[in-house]
Amino acid sequence: MATHKLLLLPGDGIGPEVMAEVKRLIAWMNAHGLGAFDIEESLVGGSCYDKHGVAITEETMGKAERADAVIFGAVGGPKWDGVPYDVRPEAGLLRLRKDLQLFANIRPAVCYPALADSSSLKREVVEGLDIIILRELTGGVYFGEPKIITDLGNNQKRAVDTQVYDTYEIERIGRVAFELARKRRNKVTSTEKRNVMKTGVLWHEVIAALHKREYSDVQLEHQLADALGMQLVRWPKQFDVIVADNLFGDMLSDVAATLTGSLGMLPSASLGEVDPKTRKRKALYEPVHGSAPDIAGRGIANPIAMLASFAMALRYSFNRLKEADLIDEAIANVLAKGYRTADIKSDGTQVVGTAEMGEAVVQELERLVEQSSQARQQR
Ligand code: IPM
Ligand code: MN
Repeated sequence: MATHKLLLLPGDGIGPEVMAEVKRLIAWMNAHGLGAFDIEESLVGGSCYDKHGVAITEETMGKAERADAVIFGAVGGPKWDGVPYDVRPEAGLLRLRKDLQLFANIRPAVCYPALADSSSLKREVVEGLDIIILRELTGGVYFGEPKIITDLGNNQKRAVDTQVYDTYEIERIGRVAFELARKRRNKVTSTEKRNVMKTGVLWHEVIAALHKREYSDVQLEHQLADALGMQLVRWPKQFDVIVADNLFGDMLSDVAATLTGSLGMLPSASLGEVDPKTRKRKALYEPVHGSAPDIAGRGIANPIAMLASFAMALRYSFNRLKEADLIDEAIANVLAKGYRTADIKSDGTQVVGTAEMGEAVVQELERLVEQSSQARQQR
């Protein structure tokens, strides 16, 4: 079995707590011959700043470049509110995305049947929901220059962020959207604000042209981003794959996350281009939730988004679809049995901590694996 090199970056807040459950899962997979994962671990974010004065070190960037996949927890917290802007915790994550050129951020929003009542929306609106927010991750207003605050001298300052997109950036994220849709319900909804933004005009034009040229078998729809936000909470099941720029994608994915019951449920994959020579691609996997400093250190955080992010690594970096499906199934079963972390608790369920939830998922996985090997023997 090929050995896969993983770089674990737990980060701040609840990051290390949820990462501990991924380590439990990896150890179990290694011990049961379901994988050969080599793990290294480094600091990122505020915890890295405290030790090294930067949000990520050059050494860690090197390790990330060489790893087969980066597994990322979360960064940030009020403790670092006062640190200089360019070494704030988030800068570590943004540098990883930019330097590794992880332009395609896949954020699936799946509502597990057991959680349909935890959503703030009505059960019939979210039950069975399975959509993907595909967010462009290395361009737009996050990285555009100039990005500056200047002093105008008369007690006035001026802040400038720059929203910028080139054709190739829109085209490559569009391609990922159409390819994803072809393996799902074959529908892409592209979103921008072409009624007020030039980047929206170009975005719309490039996606429409790409569709006509190469993907006319896929159903394509365009929605203005504000209207799409409204539709997403009105009737989310109309969507399959939503493709958005960096900033709209950031907002819409938080909205989509909450449809599923809790921000603690959503995994994500950030992917680079496939290298034509090695057939490999750089990749980072992280839960959509942040570092949740308010509950950090109490052992109550929900590890599901982090575990599901690892399942995405199996799916998108290592082509281990069967194992990825098994992990997703184990998570669904554990929820169906009534196990809940505090963020998703409801009447009649059993509230457990981070470690108990992680252990329950691994135990369920073990049961599923045994069951399928028995079924094989009987055939
Ligand atoms: C996310 C986060 C990040 C972002 C922050 C932590 C920089 O909100 O991954 O959605 O804005 O992209
Ligand atoms: Mn966000």
